Amino acid sequence: MPKQVFILNGKPVSVMAPDDVRVLWVLRDLLGVTGPKYGCGINVCKACTSHLNGRAFNPCSVRVGDLENDDRVTTIEGLPRESKGRTKDGLHPMQQAWLDHDVAQCGYCQPGQIMAAVALVNKVRREKRKIKDKDLDAIRNICRCGSYTRIREAIEQGARHMR
Ligand code: FES
Ligand code: FES
Repeated sequence: MPKQVFILNGKPVSVMAPDDVRVLWVLRDLLGVTGPKYGCGINVCKACTSHLNGRAFNPCSVRVGDLENDDRVTTIEGLPRESKGRTKDGLHPMQQAWLDHDVAQCGYCQPGQIMAAVALVNKVRREKRKIKDKDLDAIRNICRCGSYTRIREAIEQGARHMR
């Protein structure tokens, strides 16, 4: 069985897994990183949203064999270390915004929602502009509890505090 090597939450990891196993199952079942949630497994619900080299990706749809040794996978567990603007409790500003707006209901979709939100803020910053309503409309992460209004409010707060 091949050895799969990549960077996970800032640290190199290696794990034995067939090339065609999707990254989500490597994370959850082999490495015990359970922040990315399994919803659909076919890149629709976005519950597994994480970052690959700083951009949103869905690990249920990427073969682990397609990762390069220096690819950086970040899950919600590693998100705070990505930010220079951590709170005194060690949270990423977007996580703090989620708490301030009491966003989560059952919570299942929320790690993916936060990872999508941070990736969106970083994307619009790369484009040197501010978040617009149409950017928020374009987020495709499903919340079966319907927390969408609070998610939008939290993203706007989190964006103001991200550095
Ligand atoms: S579990 Fe990955 S998109 Fe649904
Ligand atoms: S908070 Fe329950 S699915 Fe989003």
